[in-house]
Amino acid sequence: MAIDHVLENGFIRVTEQAAVAAAHTMGQGDRKRSDQVSVEAMRRELDALAIAGRIVIGEGERDEAPMLYVGEEVGARKGSVDGVAVDIAVDPLEGTNLCATGAPDATAVLAAAERGGLLHAPDTYMQKLIVGPQAAGRLHLDAPVSENLRALARAFDRDVEDLTIVVLDRPRHEQLIADIRAAGARIRLIGDGDLSAGIAVAVRGTGVHAVMGVGGAPEGVITAAAMRCLGGEIQARLVATDEGQRQRLAKLGFHDLSRIYATSDLAPGEEILVSCTGVTDGELLRGVGFFGGGYRTQTLFMSLTRRILRFVDTIYREDLSTSVYFGS
Ligand code: FBP
Repeated sequence: MAIDHVLENGFIRVTEQAAVAAAHTMGQGDRKRSDQVSVEAMRRELDALAIAGRIVIGEGERDEAPMLYVGEEVGARKGSVDGVAVDIAVDPLEGTNLCATGAPDATAVLAAAERGGLLHAPDTYMQKLIVGPQAAGRLHLDAPVSENLRALARAFDRDVEDLTIVVLDRPRHEQLIADIRAAGARIRLIGDGDLSAGIAVAVRGTGVHAVMGVGGAPEGVITAAAMRCLGGEIQARLVATDEGQRQRLAKLGFHDLSRIYATSDLAPGEEILVSCTGVTDGELLRGVGFFGGGYRTQTLFMSLTRRILRFVDTIYREDLSTSVYFGS
């Protein structure tokens, strides 16, 4: 049976509850706690699903993460042969700093696929070029920035000056930022969250056209899963920042650091689904809203098999005597 028929609502609930847990800590200035509560909520909800799940992208390796570590089995049917076997990539709180400071675009995200459907990427960095369907196949990770921007402008039938490129605000991007500025495109520098930004570029109307630069490799795999569902593209290359990381990558079998990974190398599955719930208000999704007697979440759910996108707006009511607000 297809994974998403069984698990659609379950997975939506998983990211909803992770988002709600994190949202309670918004602005408290404690990113570790924000992360911890979202991890706990996500693990609890995953364990309630009738799956034999395996974490392939998670909170780290077993010795460094007590929950949702890579290789951990999750789900009510873990270890059994009759549960739905599914590989899961999680980012219970994408943008821990964003949540801790109440900044926009923190999300709770999960991608799932049949066994082997998501690359087990190491917890290192990744050089990324992410575009939506309109520009997929037209840019190249190794092309000069100015050339890529011209190709992107052609894809959107506009001038380079009318493009907006999302870049993580990091010293390592000094040259990239200078190159984009020299080419004349606009830049949105973000403090964190290149995964949410990647999803936003694949949706028209968000006002952003590409993500460029180096971010986390785990986020790159989840972005790839989303791009498979949205028709967008990620081109990526693993990056080791020091000799320790290089050795770690080699130990995991990643010897060729010049290799460019295409979207379907990172997320080769056929039964991919992604659920992403807003924690704080963002480009694409509203954050969790609390009102007396309940709370409201907004989630983007995507299924590759069924080619659907669902924007799911859920009101959880703890107290039925309070009125429900139907405004947007
Ligand atoms: P966290 O959610 O773990 O805080 O990561 C946020 C993030 O900004 C990602 O979106 C991005 O890929 C990565 O961190 C970049 O890493 P770094 O902060 O080390 O530059």
